[in-house]
Amino acid sequence: MQHSWEWTQGCKDGQRGVRQAQEDRISRRQRTNPDEDQTSANQKQSAVRGNRHFQNRAEPRAAMRDRKCMRLPDKFPVTHEMVQHSLKRGLTLQEELQAGNIYIADYEILQGVPVSRKDRYLTAPICLLYNNELDQMMPIAIQLSQTPGEMSPIFLPSDNEYDWMLAKMWVKSSDFNVHQLIIHLLKTHLLSEVFEMAMYRQLSAVHPVYKLLMPHVRFTIAINAEARENLISEDGIYSRVGSISGAELETLVKKAMETLTYKSLCFPEDIKVRGVEDVPKYYYRDDGMKIWETINWFVSTVVTIYYDSDEAVQKDVEIQGFVKDVVFGMNYTDHFPKSLESREQLVEYLTVVIFTASAQHAAVNFGQFDWYGWIPNGPSTMRKPPPQQKDQVDMKYIMESLPDRECAREVLGTVWALTRTESNERYLGMYPDMYFTEQPVEEAISHFQQKLEEVTNIIKSRNEELTLAYCYLSPDKIPNSVAI
Ligand SMILES: [Fe+2]
Repeated sequence: MQHSWEWTQGCKDGQRGVRQAQEDRISRRQRTNPDEDQTSANQKQSAVRGNRHFQNRAEPRAAMRDRKCMRLPDKFPVTHEMVQHSLKRGLTLQEELQAGNIYIADYEILQGVPVSRKDRYLTAPICLLYNNELDQMMPIAIQLSQTPGEMSPIFLPSDNEYDWMLAKMWVKSSDFNVHQLIIHLLKTHLLSEVFEMAMYRQLSAVHPVYKLLMPHVRFTIAINAEARENLISEDGIYSRVGSISGAELETLVKKAMETLTYKSLCFPEDIKVRGVEDVPKYYYRDDGMKIWETINWFVSTVVTIYYDSDEAVQKDVEIQGFVKDVVFGMNYTDHFPKSLESREQLVEYLTVVIFTASAQHAAVNFGQFDWYGWIPNGPSTMRKPPPQQKDQVDMKYIMESLPDRECAREVLGTVWALTRTESNERYLGMYPDMYFTEQPVEEAISHFQQKLEEVTNIIKSRNEELTLAYCYLSPDKIPNSVAI
Protein backbone atom coordinates (compact mmCIF):
# COMPACT_ATOMS: atom_id res chain seq x y z
CA MET A 1 0.00 0.00 0.00
CA GLN A 2 2.82 2.33 0.84
CA HIS A 3 4.41 1.47 -2.47
CA SER A 4 1.25 2.36 -4.32
CA TRP A 5 1.40 5.75 -2.69
CA GLU A 6 4.98 6.23 -3.72
CA TRP A 7 4.16 5.20 -7.23
CA THR A 8 1.94 8.14 -7.72
CA GLN A 9 3.45 10.75 -5.48
CA GLY A 10 7.16 10.53 -5.05
CA CYS A 11 9.75 12.59 -6.80
CA LYS A 12 10.47 11.30 -10.25
CA ASP A 13 13.88 9.83 -9.55
CA GLY A 14 12.98 8.17 -6.31
CA GLN A 15 9.89 6.48 -7.57
CA ARG A 16 11.20 4.82 -10.68
CA GLY A 17 12.17 1.58 -8.98
CA VAL A 18 8.90 1.33 -7.11
CA ARG A 19 6.91 2.03 -10.23
CA GLN A 20 8.80 -0.59 -12.20
CA ALA A 21 8.27 -3.16 -9.47
CA GLN A 22 4.57 -2.47 -9.43
CA GLU A 23 4.30 -2.62 -13.20
CA ASP A 24 6.08 -5.96 -13.13
CA ARG A 25 3.69 -7.30 -10.53
CA ILE A 26 0.66 -6.12 -12.47
CA SER A 27 2.03 -7.47 -15.70
CA ARG A 28 2.69 -10.90 -14.13
CA ARG A 29 -0.85 -11.13 -12.82
CA GLN A 30 -2.41 -9.93 -16.05
CA ARG A 31 -0.92 -12.89 -17.81
CA THR A 32 -2.85 -15.23 -15.54
CA ASN A 33 -6.12 -13.40 -14.89
CA PRO A 34 -6.58 -10.04 -16.56
CA ASP A 35 -9.91 -9.19 -14.92
CA GLU A 36 -8.79 -10.00 -11.43
CA ASP A 37 -5.62 -8.06 -11.98
CA GLN A 38 -7.36 -4.92 -13.13
CA THR A 39 -9.53 -5.06 -10.05
CA SER A 40 -6.59 -5.61 -7.81
CA ALA A 41 -4.60 -2.77 -9.33
CA ASN A 42 -7.50 -0.41 -8.96
CA GLN A 43 -8.05 -1.42 -5.39
CA LYS A 44 -4.44 -0.65 -4.65
CA GLN A 45 -4.77 2.75 -6.15
CA SER A 46 -8.00 3.22 -4.27
CA ALA A 47 -5.91 3.01 -1.13
CA VAL A 48 -3.63 5.62 -2.64
CA ARG A 49 -6.46 8.02 -3.20
CA GLY A 50 -7.68 7.41 0.30
CA ASN A 51 -4.37 8.28 1.84
CA ARG A 52 -2.54 11.59 1.73
CA HIS A 53 -3.73 12.78 -1.63
CA PHE A 54 -4.95 16.14 -0.50
CA GLN A 55 -1.81 17.07 1.36
CA ASN A 56 0.97 17.24 -1.18
CA ARG A 57 -0.62 16.66 -4.52
CA ALA A 58 0.22 18.22 -7.82
CA GLU A 59 -2.48 20.85 -7.45
CA PRO A 60 -2.50 21.81 -3.83
CA ARG A 61 -3.91 25.28 -3.86
CA ALA A 62 -7.50 25.44 -4.95
CA ALA A 63 -9.14 28.30 -3.14
CA MET A 64 -12.52 26.66 -3.49
CA ARG A 65 -11.41 23.23 -2.41
CA ASP A 66 -9.63 21.80 0.59
CA ARG A 67 -9.83 23.98 3.63
CA LYS A 68 -10.50 23.51 7.29
CA CYS A 69 -14.15 22.90 8.02
CA MET A 70 -15.55 23.93 11.40
CA ARG A 71 -19.19 23.59 10.36
CA LEU A 72 -20.69 21.40 7.66
CA PRO A 73 -22.58 23.27 4.94
CA ASP A 74 -26.31 22.52 4.69
CA LYS A 75 -25.80 21.15 1.20
CA PHE A 76 -23.63 18.33 2.59
CA PRO A 77 -25.61 16.73 5.44
CA VAL A 78 -23.08 14.23 6.77
CA THR A 79 -24.05 12.82 10.19
CA HIS A 80 -21.94 11.33 12.94
CA GLU A 81 -23.60 7.95 12.40
CA MET A 82 -22.43 7.94 8.79
CA VAL A 83 -18.77 8.50 9.54
CA GLN A 84 -18.32 7.18 13.06
CA HIS A 85 -16.33 4.16 11.82
CA SER A 86 -13.81 6.48 10.22
CA LEU A 87 -13.30 8.68 13.28
CA LYS A 88 -10.45 7.29 15.35
CA ARG A 89 -10.17 9.53 18.38
CA GLY A 90 -13.35 8.49 20.14
CA LEU A 91 -14.90 11.89 19.40
CA THR A 92 -18.18 12.72 17.70
CA LEU A 93 -18.15 14.33 14.26
CA GLN A 94 -19.13 17.61 15.90
CA GLU A 95 -16.21 17.34 18.31
CA GLU A 96 -13.81 16.48 15.48
CA LEU A 97 -15.05 19.54 13.59
CA GLN A 98 -14.46 21.72 16.62
CA ALA A 99 -11.04 20.17 17.16
CA GLY A 100 -10.05 21.21 13.64
CA ASN A 101 -9.51 17.71 12.30
CA ILE A 102 -12.02 17.93 9.46
CA TYR A 103 -11.36 19.47 6.05
CA ILE A 104 -13.58 19.89 3.04
CA ALA A 105 -12.92 19.85 -0.70
CA ASP A 106 -15.79 21.45 -2.58
CA TYR A 107 -15.89 21.50 -6.38
CA GLU A 108 -18.88 23.83 -6.55
CA ILE A 109 -17.31 25.81 -9.36
CA LEU A 110 -18.00 22.90 -11.72
CA GLN A 111 -21.72 23.01 -11.08
CA GLY A 112 -23.64 23.59 -14.28
CA VAL A 113 -20.57 23.61 -16.50
CA PRO A 114 -21.57 21.85 -19.74
CA VAL A 115 -19.44 18.96 -20.96
CA SER A 116 -17.78 18.90 -24.33
CA ARG A 117 -19.28 15.71 -25.74
CA LYS A 118 -22.24 13.44 -25.32
CA ASP A 119 -20.14 10.64 -23.90
CA ARG A 120 -18.44 12.86 -21.31
CA TYR A 121 -19.70 13.54 -17.81
CA LEU A 122 -18.82 16.06 -15.17
CA THR A 123 -20.15 16.76 -11.72
CA ALA A 124 -19.44 19.03 -8.77
CA PRO A 125 -18.68 16.75 -5.81
CA ILE A 126 -17.98 17.56 -2.18
CA CYS A 127 -15.51 15.50 -0.21
CA LEU A 128 -15.03 15.45 3.55
CA LEU A 129 -11.50 14.74 4.74
CA TYR A 130 -10.34 13.61 8.15
CA ASN A 131 -6.92 14.14 9.63
CA ASN A 132 -6.70 10.89 11.56
CA GLU A 133 -4.62 9.92 14.57
CA LEU A 134 -1.77 8.87 12.27
CA ASP A 135 -1.79 12.30 10.64
CA GLN A 136 -3.17 10.91 7.40
CA MET A 137 -5.71 12.96 5.48
CA MET A 138 -8.43 10.43 4.68
CA PRO A 139 -11.63 10.97 2.67
CA ILE A 140 -14.56 9.91 4.86
CA ALA A 141 -17.64 11.06 2.94
CA ILE A 142 -18.36 12.02 -0.67
CA GLN A 143 -21.43 13.54 -2.26
CA LEU A 144 -21.32 13.61 -6.05
CA SER A 145 -23.41 16.74 -6.47
CA GLN A 146 -24.19 20.02 -4.78
CA THR A 147 -27.76 18.95 -4.08
CA PRO A 148 -28.33 16.40 -1.33
CA GLY A 149 -31.20 14.02 -1.61
CA GLU A 150 -32.34 10.59 -2.65
CA MET A 151 -30.65 10.83 -6.03
CA SER A 152 -27.37 11.97 -4.56
CA PRO A 153 -26.42 9.68 -1.70
CA ILE A 154 -23.42 10.35 0.50
CA PHE A 155 -20.84 7.68 -0.27
CA LEU A 156 -18.79 6.30 2.61
CA PRO A 157 -15.79 4.03 3.16
CA SER A 158 -18.23 1.56 4.74
CA ASP A 159 -20.15 1.21 1.45
CA ASN A 160 -19.35 -1.62 -0.88
CA GLU A 161 -15.86 -1.30 -2.30
CA TYR A 162 -16.93 -0.38 -5.85
CA ASP A 163 -19.26 2.40 -4.71
CA TRP A 164 -16.52 3.95 -2.59
CA MET A 165 -13.84 3.41 -5.23
CA LEU A 166 -15.90 5.06 -7.95
CA ALA A 167 -16.91 7.96 -5.70
CA LYS A 168 -13.23 8.70 -5.05
CA MET A 169 -12.45 8.48 -8.77
CA TRP A 170 -15.19 11.01 -9.42
CA VAL A 171 -13.65 13.42 -6.95
CA LYS A 172 -10.28 12.94 -8.61
CA SER A 173 -11.74 13.50 -12.06
CA SER A 174 -13.29 16.79 -10.92
CA ASP A 175 -9.98 17.61 -9.34
CA PHE A 176 -8.17 16.96 -12.64
CA ASN A 177 -10.35 19.43 -14.49
CA VAL A 178 -10.17 22.11 -11.79
CA HIS A 179 -6.44 21.63 -11.45
CA GLN A 180 -5.66 21.85 -15.14
CA LEU A 181 -7.96 24.71 -16.08
CA ILE A 182 -7.99 26.87 -12.98
CA ILE A 183 -5.05 26.07 -10.73
CA HIS A 184 -2.54 25.48 -13.49
CA LEU A 185 -3.75 27.32 -16.62
CA LEU A 186 -5.44 30.36 -15.10
CA LYS A 187 -3.57 30.89 -11.86
CA THR A 188 -0.06 30.41 -13.18
CA HIS A 189 0.16 30.45 -17.01
CA LEU A 190 -2.41 33.13 -17.82
CA LEU A 191 -1.67 35.19 -14.76
CA SER A 192 2.05 35.31 -15.55
CA GLU A 193 1.19 36.40 -19.05
CA VAL A 194 -0.84 39.32 -17.71
CA PHE A 195 2.11 40.40 -15.55
CA GLU A 196 4.44 40.02 -18.52
CA MET A 197 2.27 42.04 -20.90
CA ALA A 198 1.86 44.81 -18.33
CA MET A 199 5.60 44.81 -17.79
CA TYR A 200 6.35 45.23 -21.51
CA ARG A 201 3.68 47.88 -21.93
CA GLN A 202 4.47 50.03 -18.89
CA LEU A 203 8.05 49.59 -17.78
CA SER A 204 11.04 50.81 -19.72
CA ALA A 205 13.91 48.37 -20.20
CA VAL A 206 16.09 50.38 -17.82
CA HIS A 207 13.53 50.31 -15.00
CA PRO A 208 14.82 48.21 -12.07
CA VAL A 209 11.52 46.32 -11.81
CA TYR A 210 11.74 45.45 -15.51
CA LYS A 211 15.22 44.04 -14.87
CA LEU A 212 13.98 42.21 -11.80
CA LEU A 213 11.00 40.58 -13.51
CA MET A 214 12.46 39.87 -16.92
CA PRO A 215 13.97 36.45 -16.02
CA HIS A 216 10.63 35.44 -14.49
CA VAL A 217 8.57 35.90 -17.65
CA ARG A 218 11.01 34.10 -19.94
CA PHE A 219 9.20 32.03 -22.61
CA THR A 220 5.80 32.52 -20.95
CA ILE A 221 4.09 34.13 -23.93
CA ALA A 222 5.62 31.49 -26.20
CA ILE A 223 4.39 28.54 -24.15
CA ASN A 224 0.95 30.11 -23.76
CA ALA A 225 0.70 30.69 -27.51
CA GLU A 226 1.49 27.02 -28.00
CA ALA A 227 -1.07 26.02 -25.37
CA ARG A 228 -3.73 28.13 -27.09
CA GLU A 229 -2.93 26.47 -30.40
CA ASN A 230 -2.53 22.84 -29.37
CA LEU A 231 -3.82 22.30 -25.86
CA ILE A 232 -6.94 24.33 -25.13
CA SER A 233 -8.11 25.12 -28.66
CA GLU A 234 -11.42 23.79 -29.98
CA ASP A 235 -9.72 20.72 -31.45
CA GLY A 236 -6.79 20.68 -29.03
CA ILE A 237 -5.63 17.93 -26.70
CA TYR A 238 -7.76 19.10 -23.79
CA SER A 239 -10.95 18.87 -25.81
CA ARG A 240 -10.05 15.25 -26.59
CA VAL A 241 -9.07 14.15 -23.08
CA GLY A 242 -10.89 16.47 -20.68
CA SER A 243 -14.54 16.92 -19.82
CA ILE A 244 -14.71 20.55 -20.91
CA SER A 245 -13.59 22.33 -24.06
CA GLY A 246 -14.10 25.35 -26.29
CA ALA A 247 -16.59 27.92 -25.07
CA GLU A 248 -17.31 25.94 -21.88
CA LEU A 249 -13.64 26.00 -21.00
CA GLU A 250 -13.65 29.74 -21.38
CA THR A 251 -16.79 30.00 -19.26
CA LEU A 252 -15.18 28.05 -16.45
CA VAL A 253 -12.03 30.18 -16.52
CA LYS A 254 -14.13 33.36 -16.48
CA LYS A 255 -16.14 31.98 -13.57
CA ALA A 256 -12.93 31.33 -11.66
CA MET A 257 -11.74 34.86 -12.47
CA GLU A 258 -14.71 36.29 -10.59
CA THR A 259 -13.39 34.94 -7.30
CA LEU A 260 -9.68 35.21 -7.98
CA THR A 261 -8.17 37.71 -5.58
CA TYR A 262 -4.74 39.26 -5.31
CA LYS A 263 -4.61 38.29 -1.65
CA SER A 264 -5.12 34.61 -2.49
CA LEU A 265 -1.85 34.80 -4.43
CA CYS A 266 0.00 35.94 -1.32
CA PHE A 267 1.15 32.52 -0.15
CA PRO A 268 1.15 33.02 3.66
CA GLU A 269 -2.25 34.63 3.49
CA ASP A 270 -3.72 31.84 1.38
CA ILE A 271 -2.46 29.21 3.82
CA LYS A 272 -4.06 31.13 6.68
CA VAL A 273 -7.39 31.74 4.95
CA ARG A 274 -7.69 28.06 4.06
CA GLY A 275 -6.95 27.13 7.69
CA VAL A 276 -4.20 24.71 6.73
CA GLU A 277 -1.41 26.17 8.90
CA ASP A 278 -1.41 23.13 11.17
CA VAL A 279 -2.01 20.30 8.70
CA PRO A 280 0.75 17.80 9.50
CA LYS A 281 3.23 16.71 6.83
CA TYR A 282 2.06 19.45 4.46
CA TYR A 283 5.33 19.94 2.61
CA TYR A 284 3.83 22.19 -0.06
CA ARG A 285 3.10 24.68 2.70
CA ASP A 286 6.40 24.19 4.55
CA ASP A 287 8.61 24.49 1.47
CA GLY A 288 6.43 27.16 -0.11
CA MET A 289 6.76 29.36 2.98
CA LYS A 290 10.55 29.13 2.90
CA ILE A 291 10.65 30.08 -0.76
CA TRP A 292 8.14 32.89 -0.33
CA GLU A 293 10.24 34.36 2.47
CA THR A 294 13.45 34.04 0.47
CA ILE A 295 11.97 35.71 -2.61
CA ASN A 296 10.43 38.35 -0.38
CA TRP A 297 13.82 39.07 1.19
CA PHE A 298 15.46 39.44 -2.23
CA VAL A 299 12.74 41.67 -3.63
CA SER A 300 12.79 43.79 -0.50
CA THR A 301 16.56 44.24 -0.79
CA VAL A 302 16.32 45.31 -4.43
CA VAL A 303 13.39 47.65 -3.81
CA THR A 304 15.23 49.30 -0.92
CA ILE A 305 18.20 49.97 -3.20
CA TYR A 306 16.08 51.92 -5.70
CA TYR A 307 13.30 53.45 -3.57
CA ASP A 308 14.25 55.55 -0.55
CA SER A 309 10.69 56.28 0.54
CA ASP A 310 7.07 55.29 0.09
CA GLU A 311 6.59 58.54 -1.76
CA ALA A 312 9.07 57.37 -4.38
CA VAL A 313 6.81 54.39 -5.07
CA GLN A 314 3.71 56.60 -5.23
CA LYS A 315 5.40 58.92 -7.73
CA ASP A 316 6.76 56.18 -9.97
CA VAL A 317 4.39 56.53 -12.93
CA GLU A 318 5.73 53.40 -14.57
CA ILE A 319 5.00 51.24 -11.52
CA GLN A 320 1.55 52.77 -11.10
CA GLY A 321 0.90 52.18 -14.80
CA PHE A 322 2.09 48.60 -14.43
CA VAL A 323 -0.38 47.66 -11.68
CA LYS A 324 -3.23 49.46 -13.49
CA ASP A 325 -2.41 47.53 -16.62
CA VAL A 326 -2.57 44.24 -14.70
CA VAL A 327 -6.10 45.20 -13.60
CA PHE A 328 -6.93 45.88 -17.25
CA GLY A 329 -5.43 42.51 -18.24
CA MET A 330 -7.53 40.86 -15.55
CA ASN A 331 -10.66 42.26 -17.19
CA TYR A 332 -10.97 45.20 -14.78
CA THR A 333 -11.12 43.02 -11.70
CA ASP A 334 -11.92 44.67 -8.38
CA HIS A 335 -9.81 42.11 -6.54
CA PHE A 336 -6.40 43.44 -7.57
CA PRO A 337 -4.71 46.66 -6.37
CA LYS A 338 -5.12 49.63 -8.67
CA SER A 339 -2.16 51.48 -7.21
CA LEU A 340 0.75 50.87 -4.85
CA GLU A 341 1.26 53.28 -1.98
CA SER A 342 4.36 52.04 -0.20
CA ARG A 343 7.58 50.12 -0.57
CA GLU A 344 6.03 47.33 1.48
CA GLN A 345 3.15 47.01 -0.98
CA LEU A 346 5.53 47.04 -3.92
CA VAL A 347 7.65 44.29 -2.33
CA GLU A 348 4.61 42.10 -1.72
CA TYR A 349 3.33 42.67 -5.24
CA LEU A 350 6.62 41.75 -6.89
CA THR A 351 6.97 38.74 -4.59
CA VAL A 352 3.58 37.56 -5.86
CA VAL A 353 4.71 37.95 -9.49
CA ILE A 354 7.95 36.02 -8.98
CA PHE A 355 6.50 33.36 -6.65
CA THR A 356 3.58 32.67 -9.02
CA ALA A 357 5.84 32.31 -12.05
CA SER A 358 8.40 30.13 -10.31
CA ALA A 359 7.40 28.20 -7.19
CA GLN A 360 3.65 28.06 -7.64
CA HIS A 361 3.91 26.96 -11.24
CA ALA A 362 6.51 24.32 -10.34
CA ALA A 363 4.28 22.98 -7.57
CA VAL A 364 1.29 22.52 -9.85
CA ASN A 365 3.13 21.58 -13.05
CA PHE A 366 5.89 19.12 -12.33
CA GLY A 367 3.79 16.59 -10.46
CA GLN A 368 1.47 16.01 -13.37
CA PHE A 369 3.04 12.79 -14.56
CA ASP A 370 3.41 11.47 -11.01
CA TRP A 371 -0.28 12.09 -10.42
CA TYR A 372 -1.96 11.49 -13.72
CA GLY A 373 0.38 8.80 -15.05
CA TRP A 374 -1.94 6.34 -13.32
CA ILE A 375 -5.27 7.12 -14.95
CA PRO A 376 -7.65 6.01 -12.16
CA ASN A 377 -5.76 8.31 -9.80
CA GLY A 378 -6.97 11.33 -11.76
CA PRO A 379 -9.27 10.49 -14.66
CA SER A 380 -9.25 13.35 -17.17
CA THR A 381 -12.92 12.71 -17.85
CA MET A 382 -15.65 10.17 -17.07
CA ARG A 383 -17.62 8.28 -19.70
CA LYS A 384 -20.58 7.25 -17.54
CA PRO A 385 -22.80 9.40 -15.34
CA PRO A 386 -22.11 9.49 -11.60
CA PRO A 387 -24.06 6.85 -9.66
CA GLN A 388 -27.29 8.15 -8.14
CA GLN A 389 -27.85 5.17 -5.88
CA LYS A 390 -25.73 2.83 -3.87
CA ASP A 391 -25.05 -0.83 -4.73
CA GLN A 392 -25.54 -0.26 -8.45
CA VAL A 393 -22.00 -0.33 -9.80
CA ASP A 394 -19.46 -3.05 -10.39
CA MET A 395 -15.96 -3.19 -11.80
CA LYS A 396 -17.31 -3.31 -15.34
CA TYR A 397 -19.16 -0.03 -14.77
CA ILE A 398 -16.04 1.51 -13.27
CA MET A 399 -13.94 0.48 -16.25
CA GLU A 400 -16.56 1.89 -18.61
CA SER A 401 -16.58 5.12 -16.62
CA LEU A 402 -12.83 5.66 -16.82
CA PRO A 403 -11.18 7.16 -19.92
CA ASP A 404 -10.71 4.66 -22.74
CA ARG A 405 -7.33 3.47 -23.95
CA GLU A 406 -6.93 6.16 -26.62
CA CYS A 407 -7.74 8.93 -24.17
CA ALA A 408 -5.46 7.44 -21.52
CA ARG A 409 -2.63 7.23 -24.05
CA GLU A 410 -2.99 10.89 -24.91
CA VAL A 411 -3.08 11.92 -21.25
CA LEU A 412 0.06 9.94 -20.49
CA GLY A 413 1.98 11.44 -23.40
CA THR A 414 0.86 14.94 -22.56
CA VAL A 415 1.61 14.90 -18.84
CA TRP A 416 4.96 13.30 -19.54
CA ALA A 417 5.85 16.09 -21.98
CA LEU A 418 4.58 18.79 -19.64
CA THR A 419 6.81 17.67 -16.79
CA ARG A 420 10.11 17.88 -18.70
CA THR A 421 12.66 20.61 -18.08
CA GLU A 422 15.21 21.98 -20.53
CA SER A 423 18.79 20.75 -20.36
CA ASN A 424 19.87 24.37 -19.92
CA GLU A 425 16.96 25.25 -17.62
CA ARG A 426 17.33 28.41 -15.53
CA TYR A 427 16.30 27.58 -12.01
CA LEU A 428 15.21 30.00 -9.33
CA GLY A 429 17.80 32.73 -8.80
CA MET A 430 19.86 31.91 -11.90
CA TYR A 431 20.30 35.19 -13.77
CA PRO A 432 22.97 34.66 -16.46
CA ASP A 433 21.68 37.56 -18.59
CA MET A 434 22.80 40.02 -15.92
CA TYR A 435 20.17 42.69 -16.43
CA PHE A 436 21.50 44.40 -13.30
CA THR A 437 25.02 45.73 -13.32
CA GLU A 438 24.93 47.71 -10.09
CA GLN A 439 27.09 46.16 -7.40
CA PRO A 440 24.54 46.27 -4.53
CA VAL A 441 22.10 44.27 -6.63
CA GLU A 442 24.78 41.83 -7.73
CA GLU A 443 25.53 41.25 -4.06
CA ALA A 444 21.84 40.79 -3.32
CA ILE A 445 21.60 38.22 -6.13
CA SER A 446 24.56 36.34 -4.76
CA HIS A 447 23.04 36.34 -1.27
CA PHE A 448 19.67 35.26 -2.73
CA GLN A 449 21.36 32.29 -4.38
CA GLN A 450 23.04 31.32 -1.11
CA LYS A 451 19.74 31.46 0.74
CA LEU A 452 18.07 29.34 -1.94
CA GLU A 453 20.85 26.81 -1.67
CA GLU A 454 20.26 26.64 2.07
CA VAL A 455 16.57 25.97 1.45
CA THR A 456 17.49 23.27 -1.07
CA ASN A 457 19.71 21.60 1.53
CA ILE A 458 17.04 21.76 4.23
CA ILE A 459 14.51 20.16 1.87
CA LYS A 460 17.05 17.55 0.79
CA SER A 461 17.77 16.55 4.41
CA ARG A 462 14.06 16.44 5.19
CA ASN A 463 13.39 14.28 2.16
CA GLU A 464 16.05 11.79 3.18
CA GLU A 465 13.97 11.07 6.28
CA LEU A 466 10.79 10.52 4.30
CA THR A 467 9.56 7.33 2.71
CA LEU A 468 8.14 9.51 0.02
CA ALA A 469 10.11 12.62 -0.87
CA TYR A 470 8.44 15.91 -1.79
CA CYS A 471 10.68 17.55 -4.41
CA TYR A 472 8.49 19.90 -6.42
CA LEU A 473 9.41 22.94 -4.33
CA SER A 474 13.10 22.34 -3.94
CA PRO A 475 14.65 25.57 -5.34
CA ASP A 476 17.08 23.63 -7.51
CA LYS A 477 14.06 22.14 -9.32
CA ILE A 478 12.00 25.30 -9.71
CA PRO A 479 12.42 27.06 -13.06
CA ASN A 480 12.47 30.86 -12.94
CA SER A 481 9.42 31.23 -15.15
CA VAL A 482 6.34 29.55 -16.61
CA ALA A 483 7.91 27.96 -19.65
CA ILE A 484 6.26 24.54 -19.97
FE1 LIG B 1 2.70 24.54 -16.94
